[in-house]
Amino acid sequence: MLDSASKGLFHLLALIKPFKTLASRYGMRRPSSFARRFIAGETTREAIEAARAVEQRGLLITMDHLGESVGSLARADAATREYFDVMQQVVESGIGRNISLKLTQLGLTVDRATCVDNMRRVLERAEPAGFFIRIDMEGSAHTEVTLETFETLWGLGYRQMGVVLQAALYRTEEDLPRVLRLGARVRLVKGAYKEPRTVAHQSKADIDDAYARLTKILLASGEYPAIATHDPAMHALAIEWAAERGLGPDKFEFQLLYGVRRDLQASLVDRGYRVRVYIPFGREWFPYFMRRLGERPANVTSVVTSMIDERRAQARRAIK
Ligand code: FDA
Repeated sequence: MLDSASKGLFHLLALIKPFKTLASRYGMRRPSSFARRFIAGETTREAIEAARAVEQRGLLITMDHLGESVGSLARADAATREYFDVMQQVVESGIGRNISLKLTQLGLTVDRATCVDNMRRVLERAEPAGFFIRIDMEGSAHTEVTLETFETLWGLGYRQMGVVLQAALYRTEEDLPRVLRLGARVRLVKGAYKEPRTVAHQSKADIDDAYARLTKILLASGEYPAIATHDPAMHALAIEWAAERGLGPDKFEFQLLYGVRRDLQASLVDRGYRVRVYIPFGREWFPYFMRRLGERPANVTSVVTSMIDERRAQARRAIK
C-alpha cells in the first residue's frame, strides 16, 4: 500500500491530460492492452465472459459497471437504466447475482433525493431477482451522505444490500458499530482515496493497525463480513480470529479485485474459504484504473512501457 504522499502524486498524474488521452486511447484496445489486467472489458458481454471464467476457478463474483461523479440527473438516470440492463444480462447468463455500485454514479452529488429514488429503482428490480447490491464507499466528502442514504434505504425495508467502510478513516471506528447496529453487511477495505491527515491515517502501519482492529470487531459481531484486501497478513489474522470465535468458512468471505493477486485468490479457495472477485467493466474505467495504479508503483512502469510499445506499433502500421 502506498503512503498518502504517493497517492497524491498519482492523483496529479490522473489530471495530466496527455496521460489520460494516451491511457484512454490504448488501455483497452486489444485483449493484451494494459488496462485489461484490471478491467474486464467495456461491454457487459465481455464482463460476463470474464466473470464466468472466474467462477470456473471456484470463486464468487460481484459486477461493477464503472461510473462515478455524474454531473446531471439525465446521466444519473442513464446509469440507473444501464444497471437494469446489466441485471437482465446477468440473469440470462446464469452467473452470480451480485452487483457493486457507487452512489455518485446514481446522482448523489446532483440531487440526493433523486439518488435515493434511483437506488430504489435498482433495488426494486434487484431484490425479487435475488441480487445482492453493495454500495461502494467513495472519498471522505461522501462518507456521511452515503451512510445516511444507506440508512434511509434500510429504513424503507430494503435488506439485500450492504455497504463499504474504509479502515483508513478515523471515523470508521464509530461508523462500524453504527452499521452493525442495523444488522447490515459490511465490506471492510483499507481505502483507495487520497485523504487529508485531519480525517485519515496516513502511514501503512497505522492503516494496517486500524484494519486489523476493525476486522476483529467485524468478525465478532458482523453479519456475513467481507474482508476485502490483498494483504496476506490481514487474511491470516482474519482466519485466526474466525477460528477463535468458532466462525466457519461459510460465515464470512474474502474479497479481492479482478487482476490482483490471483495466486492468493486461488490459495484461499484451495483452503476452503469463500472468495469473491470484484469485476469492474464499462467505458468509464479511467478513474478506477488510476486508483489501481496508485496502489502499486510497479504497475505504472508496466503501463508506461505498454503505452510506448502501442505508440511504436501504431507508428509502424502508419509507415506501412
Ligand atoms: P495493500 O495496499 O497493503 O496491499 C497488499 C498487497 O496487495 C500488496 O503488497 C500487493 O501485493 C497487492 N496489491 C494491492 N493493490 C494492488 C494493485 N493495485 N496491483 C497489484 N497488486 C496490488 N476502496 C474504497 O475506498 N472503496 C471501496 O468501495 C472499495 N471496494 C473494494 C472492493 C474490493 C473487493 C477490494 C479488494 C478493494 C476495494 N477497495 C475499495 C480498494 C481498497 O481500499 C484498497 O485500496 C485496495 O484493496 C489495496 O489495498 P489492500 O487492502 O490490498 O492492501
